[in-house]
Amino acid sequence: MRPKVPERILALQPYRPGKPIEEVERELGLTDSVKLASNENPLSPSRKVLDALRGALAQLNRYPDGGAVVLTEKLAARFGVSPTRVVLGNGSNEIIELVVRMFAGPGDEVVMSADGFLVYDLVTQAVGAQAVRVAAAGFFHDLEAMADAIGPRTRVVFVANPNNPTGTIVKRGAFEAFLARVPHDVVVACDEAYFEYVEDPDYPDSLTYQDHHPGLVTMRTFSKIHALAGLRLGYGVASTEIAGALARLRQPFNVNSLAQVAACAALEDDEYVEAARAIVREGRAMLALGLDALGLRHITGHANFVLVEVGDGSAVTESLLQRGVIVRPMGAYAMTTMIRVTYGTEAENQKFLAALPAALAEVPR
Ligand SMILES: Cc1ncc(COP(=O)(O)O)c(C=O)c1O
Repeated sequence: MRPKVPERILALQPYRPGKPIEEVERELGLTDSVKLASNENPLSPSRKVLDALRGALAQLNRYPDGGAVVLTEKLAARFGVSPTRVVLGNGSNEIIELVVRMFAGPGDEVVMSADGFLVYDLVTQAVGAQAVRVAAAGFFHDLEAMADAIGPRTRVVFVANPNNPTGTIVKRGAFEAFLARVPHDVVVACDEAYFEYVEDPDYPDSLTYQDHHPGLVTMRTFSKIHALAGLRLGYGVASTEIAGALARLRQPFNVNSLAQVAACAALEDDEYVEAARAIVREGRAMLALGLDALGLRHITGHANFVLVEVGDGSAVTESLLQRGVIVRPMGAYAMTTMIRVTYGTEAENQKFLAALPAALAEVPR
């Protein structure tokens, strides 16, 4: 006799993150590789953040503020909502997980786009609920089909805006038409991890729809534009009822003290955010031009990465790796012909564009 791991857990395909630079360099004996694989910000965090972190190190003997009062109030003030409507997570991944854990279980359904962020499917399987994966329309969420897929068992529907790995957005008209069709007892989980990068005037800010849709949860993160991926901090904004219930479900100290201090400082540095946005704007233009010049089809999207059609995505990823460029193959998303490339600094983007022709030549198409 021994404890039996549940079948649904054995069936999980663990999320495979991008390889750390140190690991690649150790394996390949390289010293100057670039990592464009995890949609990170290529800049170090803001100087204000680093100073604040230094000042907080000596208090690491203390537990964090479990209620993260200062940060929660700062976020609430920024969005003009009551602090009772804000819930913090260990990355926005934790908010995604909490939403599913709270609302769905065996026998329930969670609706998502088939090319949506993989974590939705993983956490749905983990709680024993059924993921309803709705075919995408091209590289876009098919919101009409997603609304059609909502049935009596549906508890949550995920809208990734912009989506990862496609980078595409749902526009205001389509979003409003979708919301009008979602029953009010279904949670609409809007994942806006890349919110700050989007510059399209038709991009809807899901927060502004919450008054009319009590089941809407907006999820954002400090991992991307604020460059704090290593500290793990994301947040959700929802009704007081939902945010309070999610906070009840979380671990008491889910957000560490350095993350809290760093995020408070990050919210004070709009200049840094603008610089981070500019790096992405420049990377987007540079890669689009370079990929066009190579005659490669690409889905440029609105976030900090681009999908590129290369033939055999995993072979080209491997070939780029040998040249010190780490990108992400898209096999896990059933896009075996694509790689996803995060925009880096100008020098990093240049290194990718310079390595790509040789990497492609090495792999039969
Ligand atoms: C669409 C999307 N949502 C959520 C996340 C999770 O980010 P984090 O947990 O670092 O906040 C990511 C990370 O890549 C993402 O691409």
